[in-house]
Amino acid sequence: MRKPIIAGNWKMYKTATEAKQFVEEVNGLVPDSEKLDAVICAPAIFLAQLVRSAENSPLQIGAQTMSEEDEGAFTGEISPVQLTDIGVKYVIIGHSERRQYFNETDESANKKVKAAFTHGLVPILCVGETLEHRENGETGAIVEAQVEKGISGLSEEQIIQLVIAYEPIWAIGTGKTATAEDANEVCGIVRKKVGSLYNEQAAEQLRVQYGGSVKPANIDELMGMEHIDGALVGGASLEADSFIKLLEAGS
Ligand code: G3P
Repeated sequence: MRKPIIAGNWKMYKTATEAKQFVEEVNGLVPDSEKLDAVICAPAIFLAQLVRSAENSPLQIGAQTMSEEDEGAFTGEISPVQLTDIGVKYVIIGHSERRQYFNETDESANKKVKAAFTHGLVPILCVGETLEHRENGETGAIVEAQVEKGISGLSEEQIIQLVIAYEPIWAIGTGKTATAEDANEVCGIVRKKVGSLYNEQAAEQLRVQYGGSVKPANIDELMGMEHIDGALVGGASLEADSFIKLLEAGS
């Protein structure tokens, strides 16, 4: 049995006061970590404060990106060493917005995934096709290639801890959700690919999330699918009551 994982991705939203209020509101309501992993991936500026605010709750804090370097003259970057030092546990890698606006690639994502593991962070590796890819029937091939390049060189032990988020780009922030069947099909393609690159047992333990306009109204159906082990949620993770509903549905 794979443990569900629901992660909020706040992107570049919230002030420090709003972030603190959110965590205070959800703290006592987060389901036990034996049932599900609940994560908020916040802007870097709030991470240390949120780790402290969530200290007595099963809620874990994650970053939205990071450098693949441990340290150095990289103005504006944040390293995995710095993230683990303040108690961050997860990091989103290769989100489509990072790929689109900040030149990230499968190759850079792969370096970051490896760096995350080296420093004890759990990477959430994002993959997903554009609308054009989908309309051309290329979804499977695109996602398989992203998975293969993104996880290249990982050990089987790392694969078991990895989280892969399937986020079709056309469904992000658009209100358009992939149907639960379509999302399940691609999450199944991700799992199968990992199985062919490693082995069946590792693939069976890998957790695959769906992301793209997930909300309380559609989470039950998505979570009921064989290959969907959780969700990576943008907009609907910004309000405490809707995030809690997502966690309840996932647990
Ligand atoms: O990483 C989560 C994301 O890109 C999906 O965003 O707002 O469609 O849930 P949203």
